[in-house]
Amino acid sequence: MSLDLLAGTVHAALTLPPARPTILVFDSGLGGLTVLAQASRARPDARFVYAADDAGFPYGRLDEAQLVARVLAVMERLVARCRPDLVVIACNTASTLVLPALRARFAIPFIGTVPAIKPAAELTRSGLISVLATPGTVARDYTRELIASYAAGCEVTLVGSSRLAGLAEAVLRGEPVDDGAIAAEIAPCFVEAGGARTDVITLACTHYPLLLERMKRLAPWDVTWIDPAPAIARRMTQLLGQAPPARAPASDAPAIFTGGAGMTGPLRIALAGLGLAEVMVEPMPLAN
Ligand code: DGL
Repeated sequence: MSLDLLAGTVHAALTLPPARPTILVFDSGLGGLTVLAQASRARPDARFVYAADDAGFPYGRLDEAQLVARVLAVMERLVARCRPDLVVIACNTASTLVLPALRARFAIPFIGTVPAIKPAAELTRSGLISVLATPGTVARDYTRELIASYAAGCEVTLVGSSRLAGLAEAVLRGEPVDDGAIAAEIAPCFVEAGGARTDVITLACTHYPLLLERMKRLAPWDVTWIDPAPAIARRMTQLLGQAPPARAPASDAPAIFTGGAGMTGPLRIALAGLGLAEVMVEPMPLAN
């Protein structure tokens, strides 16, 4: 996969972006809400739809062939239902693998979310950076290529957490999550070597910024944490343009889930607080 995928492919339709575009923000679960928040701030006039493939969550555990097939199948259904002008894949685990197949299949522009390794390499002073991601993202060739291209002069520690995305979802559902569980997942990111310490951690899973305040509190020392969401929103406005002046904000975004099993009362309240009052289920069980 070539690194220009990071920049996205501009489909011809975007030479004249629609006046009030429909933007589909997609993730395996609730992590994409961190991207939706930034994207809707950048284009408050656009119609957003949030889609979570919660029946497939967590994507970090799926093998590559399974994940490509799953995302294509779910996207087929979502594109038919929502007719988006642009899709944001707010999931590193999917973006680092599935973007070429999505772009080959659909004539819509896709913006991906991939590990912010270049900004981390530019920010570090110690030369020690960590990438906190899912096991899937850590294993990708794409992630290794980003490191080779942009962080060859750094010591990069790849940390694949199989628990953190689930813990972030539990927090959003209002369930108690132990500090110890979060601390254990982030601990491998903090490296001391040759008198230097990790000073930049890139959050390469969109779920993790949901835990950012707790991670900062539990960190053994201060580091710069990189949340990719503002860069994704910037990329979106590059493709679509800025919101026209004096345009009324669009109404609340609907949310579509492929399972809905974890849709508790507290989660509905949390989603409504994030502007997602209308929650729908488009059942798509994950075939085993
Ligand atoms: N939010 C997703 C990401 O950015 C991953 C969570 C999962 O494993 O499904 O990678």
